[in-house]
Amino acid sequence: MDERRKPLIAGNWKMNLDLAGATTLAREVLQRTARMRTADICVLPASPLIQAVAKVLEGSAVGFGGQDISPEEEGAFTGDINARMLLSLGCQYVCIGHSERREFHLETDESVRAKTGRALASGLIPIVCVGERLAERDSGATFQRIERQITVGLGGLSSEEMARVVVAYEPVWAIGTGRTATPAQAEEVHEYIRKLLAGMFGEVIASRTRILYGGSVKPGNARELMGQKDVDGALVGGASLSAESFAGIVECTG
Ligand code: 13P
Repeated sequence: MDERRKPLIAGNWKMNLDLAGATTLAREVLQRTARMRTADICVLPASPLIQAVAKVLEGSAVGFGGQDISPEEEGAFTGDINARMLLSLGCQYVCIGHSERREFHLETDESVRAKTGRALASGLIPIVCVGERLAERDSGATFQRIERQITVGLGGLSSEEMARVVVAYEPVWAIGTGRTATPAQAEEVHEYIRKLLAGMFGEVIASRTRILYGGSVKPGNARELMGQKDVDGALVGGASLSAESFAGIVECTG
């Protein structure tokens, strides 16, 4: 971490919990993180649960947001949700281009770009996910994959827009597998992403952009990962479903 960038710890609840479970977890997160000031914190519940979570978190230091938005403004897009709906619930954040969306919903770098633009135009902070698959890592194609995801996914944004983007590096092989990237493996890619951003948007914007690491982050490995110079927080899946472990990760930023 670099003191110019306040860490962000984001909990991606994915397709877990129900109304009662999400409300309880939000309350517990609020209690356990109440005195923690070393990081920005947010949770990303499934869409039908956001309103209940918002009621718990409104006015607190814990932000919240959605897991995806449509690139379209509104209309006949059954099953999709738009930025305005999230904003009307009080959301500040939206996750975009998660590898599970790319894999199961065929999202592309182009659709990531469209969704990122929509989020920014609406005033949401996009958390834009990138990351290589295991086969890409094994064949030495990691940087090539990341380069395309960044240059297409964030291409053509203005500097003002990019200043509001959060990037999350999530190697697909480390998600939900218990197999975390080593701090050195994470740092190598984070540093590469920052260099790409410097080329696209200039050094100032690049040095201010928060780049989160995601993939089996837990209280036991978070401190070392976030001790890397270009790792500015975490996007947490499984460990965000327990307030104790999620708060334990936030604690690692102190
Ligand atoms: P895990 O922390 O469960 O590996 O999930 C990471 C992730 O995909 C967060 O978006």
